[in-house]
Amino acid sequence: MSAKKTVLISGGAGYIGSHTAVELINAGYDVIIIDNLSNSDRNAVEGVEKITGKKIPFEIVDTCDKNALRSVFEKYQFDSVIHFAAFKAVGESVEKPLMYYQNNLGSFMNILEMMKEFGRPNILFSSSATVYGEAEELPVTEKTLRKPATSPYGNTKQIAEDILHDCCYAYEGMYGIALRYFNPVGAHPSALIGELPRGVPNNLVPFVTQTAAGIRECLSVFGNDYPTPDGTCLRDYIDVVDLAKAHVAAVNRMTEDKMEEKYEIFNIGTGRPVSVLELLTTFEKVNNLKLNYRIAPRRAGDVTAVWADTSLANEKLGWKAERTLDETLESAWRWEKHLRNL
Ligand code: UFG
Repeated sequence: MSAKKTVLISGGAGYIGSHTAVELINAGYDVIIIDNLSNSDRNAVEGVEKITGKKIPFEIVDTCDKNALRSVFEKYQFDSVIHFAAFKAVGESVEKPLMYYQNNLGSFMNILEMMKEFGRPNILFSSSATVYGEAEELPVTEKTLRKPATSPYGNTKQIAEDILHDCCYAYEGMYGIALRYFNPVGAHPSALIGELPRGVPNNLVPFVTQTAAGIRECLSVFGNDYPTPDGTCLRDYIDVVDLAKAHVAAVNRMTEDKMEEKYEIFNIGTGRPVSVLELLTTFEKVNNLKLNYRIAPRRAGDVTAVWADTSLANEKLGWKAERTLDETLESAWRWEKHLRNL
């Protein structure tokens, strides 16, 4: 294992982390996964091993536990860290703000502190398009102003970005990239890894696949009176495998010393706005089934529209989204069927 080609992945048993582990391994990296399994399953690590044919060092570690984290830094050599481990439910964050600030910021600061202590240079952070709120301009570029966060979850993303910025400029050996994800959806084509929402899903696609599987009776479309072509909200749905590949491109940029600033930010989306109704009809078409859905009132906190200008990632990371919405929604349904033995 060369340190330059080894990546520590916190939250690597989660949805985006597991897909990223696969793509890093495909690109010739070694990975070490740490995860406290609070919202993930060790089967995901086995899924990554099955897909790649590699045995993966895996430790059950809570990144909020600094001593446990220090042991990981003592045990393994790696130059780059991807920090996924975080809570991610917007509604829950409103009810339990302290839990969110403590977990999402405490764990990130522990990671940064260990990187500084052990002289590990490269840190990639999972940020979110949520930092743009109801955006000033569409599509949003990385220069579009961030709006005050509307939830503690969103606030943890903004604050973490600021912490990363400050650390990269304060500490000589530290380089950071924040990737602002738009709406990650879909699953690995093998159906060996995918999203595993606990309880009733908040996000659209898991709710769609669970409705198709008969686990949910009816899907609510939250509002059809928005100022958009068909009245439903517009989002930029990015395939999780494409998203994973964006992480590989960002790690390459860091390890090949190609960064132009000490801290860089990239939007990771497709650049194409898709309405809720378009997503539902596409899902029905590609999977040849009918979904039970109805129009419901708007959901509090939803923005009307947000999609990415991806030119910076295209140019600087040499990355762009490749999978079509059809392929993505097929993969989402394949994963749900695999999970439910359908
Ligand atoms: N939607 C429905 N019915 C559902 C679920 C969602 O109509 O059952 C609609 C929403 O109203 C929205 C779209 O589908 O228009 C997408 O909703 P998601 O919940 O899947 O995703 P969001 O755009 O709300 O979420 C994104 C990110 C989060 C982030 C959030 C902040 O995925 O990480 O923005 O607003 F926190």
